[in-house]
Amino acid sequence: MIELDLNIPCGDIALEEKLDIEDPLRHLKDDSELEGVISSDGLARSSKSVSELLTVLPLQTHSVQDGLLKLAFSHQLDSLPKPLSISLHVDAAPGCGGLAWPAGQILGSYLVQKGPEYIQDKTILELGSGTGLVGLVAGALGSTTTWITDQAPLLPIMNRNVILNSLESNVVVAELNWGEPIPQEIPKPDIILAADCVYFEPAFPLLVQTLSDLSDPSTIILFCYKKRRKADKRFFTMLKKKFTWKEVMDDPNRGVYNSEAITLMSLTKLK
Ligand SMILES: C[S@@+](CC[C@H](N)C(=O)[O-])C[C@H]1O[C@@H](n2cnc3c(N)ncnc32)[C@H](O)[C@@H]1O
Repeated sequence: MIELDLNIPCGDIALEEKLDIEDPLRHLKDDSELEGVISSDGLARSSKSVSELLTVLPLQTHSVQDGLLKLAFSHQLDSLPKPLSISLHVDAAPGCGGLAWPAGQILGSYLVQKGPEYIQDKTILELGSGTGLVGLVAGALGSTTTWITDQAPLLPIMNRNVILNSLESNVVVAELNWGEPIPQEIPKPDIILAADCVYFEPAFPLLVQTLSDLSDPSTIILFCYKKRRKADKRFFTMLKKKFTWKEVMDDPNRGVYNSEAITLMSLTKLK
C-alpha cells in the first residue's frame, strides 16, 4: 500500500500517478467510465437505460439469450447475414478485459461497415482483445487468419468465444504481453486492431513498443481510444516518436461516439 502525503504540493498529474500506482484500474471502476460497458448480466453498466445506450451505437444492438451476450451489427452488405451476430461470454473475473467495452463494440461495428473486402487476404492481429470481440468480428467477416491476443488470464474466455462463434478455422488465440518480445509463431500482421488499450500509465511505453515491433509503414492500424484523463497525453507523446495518426472519418457512427469522448484513429508507423 502506497502512502499518499497530500501535504506535498504536486500537480494533478503527479497526484493521479500516485493514485494509479495504488489502484491501477481506478479509472475503469469509476461509474462514469462504465457507461456502455456490457457485463455478464448483459446489461449496460451505467445509469443509462439500455435504450439510451443503443443510441450511442445506432448500428448495433444487444440482447441476452441463455446467459450469453448477443451483439447484432446491422449493415447494407448482401454478402453477409443480416444482421451479423456475435455471441460473447463476458466475465469480469479474469480482469477488465472480460467485459464488452464500448470501444471494442465501435471498432467491431466499423469493420462490419467496411465489409469483407477490407480484410480479405489480410493477416489481422488484435491487441488487448479481452473477450476477443473485435477479432471475432474480423473472423466472422471472413478474414483468412485473425490473431486475438491478450495476457494469460484472458485466454480461456477468448478460446470459449472462438468456439461459441464457430470461428476455430480462422481465429487464433495467443498470449501477447505488450513490451515483451513478439512470440515466434505470431506473424507480422497487415492490419492491427486495438480497442480501449490506453488506461494504465505504466503500460503506455509497452503498448507503443509492441505496436512498433509488429508494424512497418504499410501496416494498417485501427486504434479506438477513449479519453479518460490528462495523463493520456503522455501516451500520445510516446506514440508520436514512432507513429503518426489521423481520425477515421468514414464511420457512420462517428458523431455519436465522439460525443462520448471516444475516437477511432488510424496510426501509421514512421519510416
Ligand atoms: C479495457 S480492456 C479492453 C478489452 C477489449 N479490447 C474491448 O474493447 O472490449 C483492455 C485490455 O487490454 C489488455 N492489456 C492490458 N495490459 C496489457 C499488457 N501489458 N499486455 C497485453 N494486454 C494487456 C487487458 O487484459 C484488457 O483485455
